[in-house]
Amino acid sequence: MEAQLQQNYTTQFGSENGQAYFAPGRINLIGEHTDYNGGHVFPAAITIGTYGIAEKRDDRKIRLYSENFAALGIIEFDLDDLSYQKEHDWTNYPKGMIRYLLEQGLPIDHGMNILFYGTIPNGAGLSSSASIELLTGVILKDLFDLDVDMLTLVKTGKRVENEFIGVNSGIMDQFAIGMGKKDQAILLDTNTLKYELIPAVFGDYVVAIMNTNKRRELADSKYNERRAECEEALRRLQTQLDIHSLGELDEATFEENLQLIADETLIKRARHAVTENQRTMKAKKALQNGDLTAFGQLLNDSHRSLQMDYEVTGIELDKLVEAAQKQPGVLGARMTGAGFGGCAIALVKEDALDTFIDTVGKEYQDAIGYAADFYKAHIDDGARKL
Ligand code: GLA
Repeated sequence: MEAQLQQNYTTQFGSENGQAYFAPGRINLIGEHTDYNGGHVFPAAITIGTYGIAEKRDDRKIRLYSENFAALGIIEFDLDDLSYQKEHDWTNYPKGMIRYLLEQGLPIDHGMNILFYGTIPNGAGLSSSASIELLTGVILKDLFDLDVDMLTLVKTGKRVENEFIGVNSGIMDQFAIGMGKKDQAILLDTNTLKYELIPAVFGDYVVAIMNTNKRRELADSKYNERRAECEEALRRLQTQLDIHSLGELDEATFEENLQLIADETLIKRARHAVTENQRTMKAKKALQNGDLTAFGQLLNDSHRSLQMDYEVTGIELDKLVEAAQKQPGVLGARMTGAGFGGCAIALVKEDALDTFIDTVGKEYQDAIGYAADFYKAHIDDGARKL
């Protein structure tokens, strides 16, 4: 892979001196739509992700090329104009990283060439955008010898998403992609940013990633809407309760105070945020205790809550998850990521995996009219130089 990309770099940029880098994608085991509600998340970095071949230039030009958007050719801009430009398309992600790191006073004083190649299916909800952000971060750190730690790159990536691109996402994706460790999942408290690495040990089971191949088109606007609904529910609870986020509430306190919210939709949204946070902490314990049955049940409960209370699934994800949950050898399944399409995960007995893929694939194709894709998740290290 790397050798091929080096060759492609030479073809595009006429130099053989590019350095190679990689940033993973991520799955989230559980803890969905909790990261902007002060709750816990439980993601892991995976072996599919984004490769980069990069080199410093003598001038101030930034020239970026992606194998995935070859038709767009090399997109070029200048270090002295890092404004968001719609026609600069996907390069707004790396551009935002360069801009915000510069704004932090870091000495990025030359242009650069970067060739990108992503193995994350586009629109699959496995965080291709955060992967590009963190990849750019580690490239800049290395090329310009920047004195910047990974957590700063993670926070800068989130800022790009929120302020440069305009999606009000939480910190989960960038955190998982920056801080990931091979064969470990990250239990992150998004309120304090304290985290624990928990061995992702599933015994005879594997985590299957199931792609609905339904692009998450509406995702960004609906995402911001859900976030606003949770903020409104919190604001109403705060008229009586001394809390800073929904993540501080246990289920009992929440249920006792529904009259403060006094709106069916807002109650459902907030109920998801509260219960999902509790499930995430339980899931961590279940995994640590090797209780995979309990872990799987929590995955199923999470999906149901995302479907019924948070309403971010859609027929494709629901069909795929429902088909997966009823297969022999499956302990649990749920959507992963923002929802509205994209991917789901299932905890499947390894020796049943082939039959699982055949049966679920067929059922999905029959119901939805096009095929789903399946991958085995391999949990890997975070963004790095190769
Ligand atoms: C997207 C966002 C994350 C998180 C998930 C939902 O992936 O980027 O911050 O909110 O959705 O859990």
